[in-house]
Amino acid sequence: MAKDALTVTDERSGARYELPIERGAIRATDLKRIKPRDDEDGLLSYDPALANTAICKSAIGFVDGDRGILRYRGYPIEELAEKSSYLETAYLIVKGELPDEHHFAMWRHNITTHSMVHENIKKFMDGFRYDAHPMGMLVGTVGALSTFYPDAKHVLDLESRRLQTRRLIGKMPTLAAFAYRRSRGLPYVYPDNDLSYTGNFLSMLFKMTELRYKPDPVLERTVDVLFILHAEHEQNCSTNAVRCVASARTDPYSAVAAGIAALYGPLHGGANEEVIRMLEEIGTVDRIPEYLKGCKTGERRLMGFGHRLYRNYDPRARLIKKLAYEVFEVTGKNPLIDIAIELERQALEDEYFVARKLFPNLDYYSGLIYQALGLPMTMFPVLFAIARTAGWMAHWAELIRDPEQKIIRPRQIYVGEGPRAYTPIEGRPEPIMREDAVSRFI
Ligand code: SDX
Repeated sequence: MAKDALTVTDERSGARYELPIERGAIRATDLKRIKPRDDEDGLLSYDPALANTAICKSAIGFVDGDRGILRYRGYPIEELAEKSSYLETAYLIVKGELPDEHHFAMWRHNITTHSMVHENIKKFMDGFRYDAHPMGMLVGTVGALSTFYPDAKHVLDLESRRLQTRRLIGKMPTLAAFAYRRSRGLPYVYPDNDLSYTGNFLSMLFKMTELRYKPDPVLERTVDVLFILHAEHEQNCSTNAVRCVASARTDPYSAVAAGIAALYGPLHGGANEEVIRMLEEIGTVDRIPEYLKGCKTGERRLMGFGHRLYRNYDPRARLIKKLAYEVFEVTGKNPLIDIAIELERQALEDEYFVARKLFPNLDYYSGLIYQALGLPMTMFPVLFAIARTAGWMAHWAELIRDPEQKIIRPRQIYVGEGPRAYTPIEGRPEPIMREDAVSRFI
């Protein structure tokens, strides 16, 4: 029977090495054995952006990019979107199993009783400029929570981890809604714990002078399904940021603030905002070919398209596209959907996108729904952050408990100057800005 191993020959020395293969991977540290002489450093693996590197073993999310499959703890995303709720899915992601009624009731109580935030948070919110981006406000206020809960530093303590997880999942909607209300110059709305997790979020966003906010059931269900679809996605950029910061045993609020900062980026969670800007820039269907031409020359990116893993349709995008039409029944159709549909059609027939296996990802249609709900573009990545908090907390706990994990400290290949002696500034020649000089980048 063929052995699960790689046999390599180092042509420099003629030596042969056997590298065991486990779960489709070799251990990068095994490469250190490969060196022509004992006094030399062994081989490194070079993998910019970690495009082909597994940095951990995880049991939380599973993506098969070629087949367009996404599962949370083994459950297909399509079933969870149809049959579950965000709060139940968050339990599944964090705890690893679906809850029974008793455990779900306890979970819902534990999350709901943590929806309030310290009154001082309002002072932070008020300190931002009138036009501050809500993601910037979220990074700041979630990071600030670490100063309210110094007990969160006890990351090795199971009960402390459970408490911080409840606090973050419970408080994220409140912080997000506070940021929205601040940006609109509206009074803050406190949590209404008699509403569902998502209904309460809508109440904190949209409640005006009515005594009690009544969420529209279709919109409440839509946002809840969107939260389910955004809750977890294995080692994406923001989850990797959370894991990297948490690997230094930093408290989870600071680690999640790092995740929000990564998610803020237009190539990641900020893409849903950029899709709307793109569709508004295109403006009419007849200008689509011109825009696509710009994407092919590299002048532009087709925002909401492409994915590091999916070389097929992102299963979440398919579900969100369907959801959009259900929302439009209530809110009225978002006219940009016609441009989005035609843009997708033309892109999926264009060799440039087909050859690169570029398909719509979950950001392509989600913004159309958020806009139809009356949210400003800047709030779209904020809703992404609320949902992804469940995934971030699960990965945080998994990292802390993984005996193979320690502080993340990658290596590098040094391509800079060799050793050189310091010279006094008097008579020093003008600095030569070489082609690859650092000054070209700053
Ligand atoms: C999310 O990782 C996750 O799981 C993320 C996420 C999650 O749930 O956490 O799924 C959420 O972030 C979704 C992605 C949202 N971002 C966007 O929609 C922004 C637009 N997409 C791209 O920037 C890009 O597709 C990425 C960032 C998503 C993926 O980039 P990769 O894998 O690094 O791909 P690449 O940049 O190496 O591109 C490969 C080729 C290049 O062309 P060539 O150099 O071969 O000529 O495809 C081209 C790229 O120029 N390309 C695009 C494109 N995406 C890739 N060309 C035009 N438009 C695009 N959107």
